[in-house]
Amino acid sequence: MIRDERIPADELQRIDEEIRSNWPTGADVDFEEAIEYHESLPEHKRFADVLESADKPLLQPRAGVPRLDDQIELLEYLHKEGQADLLPTTIDSYTRDNEYEKAQQGLEKARETGDDTLNGFPAVNHGVDGCRKLIDAIDAPIEVRHGTPDARLLAAITFAGGFQSFEGGPISYNIPYTKRHGLEETIERWQFVDRLAGAYTERGIRINREPFGPLTGTLVPPSIAIAIMLVEGKLAATQGVRSLTLGYGQVGNVVQDVAALNALKKLGNEYLPDEVVVTTVFHEWMGGFPPDEARANGVISLGGMTAAIAQPDKVITKSPQEFQGVPTKEANASGLRTTRQVIDMAIEQKIDIDGIEEEQDLIERETRCLMDTIFEHGDGDVVQGTLKAFDSGALDVPFAPSDSAKGAVLPARDDDGRVRIFEWADLAMDDDIKEIHKARLSQRATTEGRDQSFRMVADDVDAISDGKLIGRPQGDV
Ligand code: 5AD
Repeated sequence: MIRDERIPADELQRIDEEIRSNWPTGADVDFEEAIEYHESLPEHKRFADVLESADKPLLQPRAGVPRLDDQIELLEYLHKEGQADLLPTTIDSYTRDNEYEKAQQGLEKARETGDDTLNGFPAVNHGVDGCRKLIDAIDAPIEVRHGTPDARLLAAITFAGGFQSFEGGPISYNIPYTKRHGLEETIERWQFVDRLAGAYTERGIRINREPFGPLTGTLVPPSIAIAIMLVEGKLAATQGVRSLTLGYGQVGNVVQDVAALNALKKLGNEYLPDEVVVTTVFHEWMGGFPPDEARANGVISLGGMTAAIAQPDKVITKSPQEFQGVPTKEANASGLRTTRQVIDMAIEQKIDIDGIEEEQDLIERETRCLMDTIFEHGDGDVVQGTLKAFDSGALDVPFAPSDSAKGAVLPARDDDGRVRIFEWADLAMDDDIKEIHKARLSQRATTEGRDQSFRMVADDVDAISDGKLIGRPQGDV
């Protein structure tokens, strides 16, 4: 039975050898030599140190193209023209599915034609040397950003390749991304990734780990996201990770977003062991974007404003071309600069908004209910607790494509746009908290002169891309 326990050294080595034999570039990984390479990197390329010592929110985009030279050029552009503080390397979908053969074909085609035939950088195919050429060329820290349920080989190669930050986690890269992988399986896979990060950490190379906070990106109630961040943080800490960046995705109500980021930071420090340095990352809106670039810039700006007030350690920016998918480098840089402009104008202002403390208190109480039920389901073991709580529905994620979560919980916005829970299903929550949500939602129903129903939920899902926050009925109010 899998538990929240550290993978023993011999087991780590056994799995490492096994997964590195899955693709030829795996053979080039040499841990001792990799430690030396990391030690040779200058201070300003050490991801954890740069992030943890920053005195205002650092900005980071997403970006990945198949060819190495193009990736270097793209990241240089985002660094110079977008003034990104931290850079990404977004991995292609074949690699995320462990389809290295298909990624290889795509890469070769990209080399032949010059087209971006993959939707990201196939780091496994580029191998340790290719990754290091990228790390050497770019004068800033770079993170691996992906969405890979089984990221063991990707981690082994990119860590040896000089990356010092790695996104994802067993729940956050399962529930929103895949139907194919069970939760028990992904927890086991990510224990290896975290243990490998822990092994580097013990040698003085602190690999930063970043669970993916936005989950399905669609009206996720803050407490559900925060509870999953705490679980993934705890699992990583058990394996020896000491630099953790907990994530949260903008819902668009400023009070709720600021309150959630405050709660995330506070509970992160409370629930994770003292030896872990906890930082936070705020994702600009991860739901549907307006097709109109001017309106998209409005969504991005509200994210910048929220970040200026809450001051997370890092902001993942969006581009005005979000609606159409992967942005051009110009649009990507413009999303960075828009965010920068708003943050820099707002960050020194003293802005007091009513109701943040009250909302934060509610989010904290909700999160504690979820954490309590996880501990109880597992008799104190977080792995077993997570599996059993998802199984019983006591823990759930709305709109989850994965079979590992019931996806029975339904959110809806209240009368001022905060995400509340409309259908609780079996989610473990105190009755007085449910009453608060119910009252808020019924206030909205009164305003709109309609019953609370799934219609509200559906209207809310489309609201921001339609140019509003709340999915009000058309034509009235
Ligand atoms: N380059 C830039 N952004 C990317 N995204 C996915 N792949 C890439 C890439 N290769 C972005 C999408 C969306 C988010 C989920 O990730 O545009 O904003």
